[in-house]
Amino acid sequence: MTPTSLGPCTSVRLVKVLSTHRLPGPAWEELHDVEVAELGERRDDVEALIVANERVDEALLDLLPALRLVANFSVGYDQIDVAACRARGIAVTNTPGVLDAATADLAFALVLATRRRLVEGDDHIRSARWGTRWSQPPFLGHEVSGSTLGIVGLGRIGGALARRARGFDMRVLYHQRTRVEEPGLEYRALDDLLREADVVSIHVPLTPETERLISRERLALLRDGATLVNTARGGLVDEDALVDELVSGRISAGLDVFVHEPVVPEALLGLPNVVLTPHLGSGTIETRAAMTRLVVDNVLAAERGEPLATPVF
Ligand code: 8YV
Repeated sequence: MTPTSLGPCTSVRLVKVLSTHRLPGPAWEELHDVEVAELGERRDDVEALIVANERVDEALLDLLPALRLVANFSVGYDQIDVAACRARGIAVTNTPGVLDAATADLAFALVLATRRRLVEGDDHIRSARWGTRWSQPPFLGHEVSGSTLGIVGLGRIGGALARRARGFDMRVLYHQRTRVEEPGLEYRALDDLLREADVVSIHVPLTPETERLISRERLALLRDGATLVNTARGGLVDEDALVDELVSGRISAGLDVFVHEPVVPEALLGLPNVVLTPHLGSGTIETRAAMTRLVVDNVLAAERGEPLATPVF
């Protein structure tokens, strides 16, 4: 693939693909000339780069002068300097759609696990502290069915979460820039949603505009005993302020994402009112294979000079 080879009729075998990981699933075998390696060395031969939302900035692009495609194994592309790629004629793709169900499932699992104290219960048994025939106060959770869920960002994943919540007879509030007319969904301004919901789940992309959207002041709006669920990006919440709220015990949280992954704030590790998962949102065998399928489709399309399957611009 020459620098102009995103156009039609290019030879497949000339492409050099560099990937930061060997991706899971059978589609991976369809790639021709792929090398799995760490980033950081100058490479004049690399024309397509596969990343799992690792940082792609001007400094990295300078090291890859022949690059024509960044294929991201992730729907979120907050770590990729899309403007810099575009300015250099480098296409960027992501993996939308295929991970909505898995991520919404995980968000709902965190709602249930946190509200019904599943991890505490498990620990109770494993540490041989279960001494009565059935759980008694103060070891009681909160009812999920019939409670109020506030969804911040009613996109594909937020919408999938709303559908799950309906199955639990939850009242669903949502906040996003564009209002939707859908029965059973009630629009709220963000601050009102935070004041009203029993459970708040975040589903917006991380951008300069949404960074720390859930600020210290906004966290303070949550009701006593409310639960915050984050399966989107750690940077959407003021993490220090969240830790303070959780340490105080005023609220609870189900967290799949953190600001400095894989580092999790030390203060959270011993808290009973937070359920922690290691960025598992899309982490099912089926979904990760579907994400790989999309990445490979994009690389092969670029090799053939065909339209990309899921370009971000
Ligand atoms: C990925 C994700 O697991 O798609 C996203 O935005 O956060 C997850 O699906 C992660 O980014 C690694 O690629």
